[in-house]
Amino acid sequence: MPPLFPERASTIAARVDALYFFLLAIAIFFGLLIAGLIVYYAVKFHRRSPSAVGARIHGGMVLEVTWTVVPLLITMVIFVWGASVYFAMAHPPDETLNIYVVGKQWMWKFQHLDGQREINELHVPVGRAVKLITTSEDVIHDFFVPAFRVKADVLPGRYVTIWFQPTRPGRYHLFCAEYCGTRHSGMIGEVVVMEPNEYETWLSGGAAEGSLASAGAKLFQDLACNTCHRPDAQGRGPMLEGLFGKTVTLQSGETVTVDEAYVRESILTPSAKITAGFQPIMPTFQGLVTEEQLLALIEYVKSLQAQPQVTAK
Ligand code: CUA
Repeated sequence: MPPLFPERASTIAARVDALYFFLLAIAIFFGLLIAGLIVYYAVKFHRRSPSAVGARIHGGMVLEVTWTVVPLLITMVIFVWGASVYFAMAHPPDETLNIYVVGKQWMWKFQHLDGQREINELHVPVGRAVKLITTSEDVIHDFFVPAFRVKADVLPGRYVTIWFQPTRPGRYHLFCAEYCGTRHSGMIGEVVVMEPNEYETWLSGGAAEGSLASAGAKLFQDLACNTCHRPDAQGRGPMLEGLFGKTVTLQSGETVTVDEAYVRESILTPSAKITAGFQPIMPTFQGLVTEEQLLALIEYVKSLQAQPQVTAK
């Protein structure tokens, strides 16, 4: 017999299930109550003679208040409870292991910061909060790991963040949960949760290519980005050192926080948001860099964060 429920293998799983069971219990309780009362009253007040006429009833305050207040309280409980679970799922902790995910017809591509790349298999350590920064290079996919109770649409042209903290080593199914074409059903994989020491061993085996940030650094040179984005503030483009996570002022006077989406947009559509004090002279790199290369460039810009800076805060 197939199990009724997927196993619980993440910190959020029990909370999601508790809410689900509560909703189920409420639905069963009222479903039975209402069906039972319909049958009961149908029998009790059925017409006994052809001439019988029912008594007229002009409302009842007690009933009105009861069936207004009771559902209100129940829905408020559901709302507050649901919102708290949602917020817990939406906000990753500060310290996370970051991994990039690119969905594609019909496979999942994973890019670890240390340089490892995987397809349809994702290795993570147990007990550590993992943050996935996902995007798609074609259509909408959906990243779904039932055992983690984690599910989110993976969208082209955007970075959607998903996080989870696995609690048990093992292999867990990964599905695409958005119909994405002929072989959607084959767009499956496994998340392999390992003991931390095993994970370290796995991580150290085959990182010959170097880190994602170093691949980005090389690409940064190859695409000649460094001719304008120079570290000495003399370049024709904004200085990228220490930029990630900061808020910059645009020509329009608006401000924007430098995150993955902003870096991506600035590479693909440079003229969309010009930093105040600069000219819109940067060419677009649309079609010249792949999703994976974009991720490498973003990771490189992030890594410039670590450079020691002279009290610039
Ligand atoms: Cu990808 Cu369905």
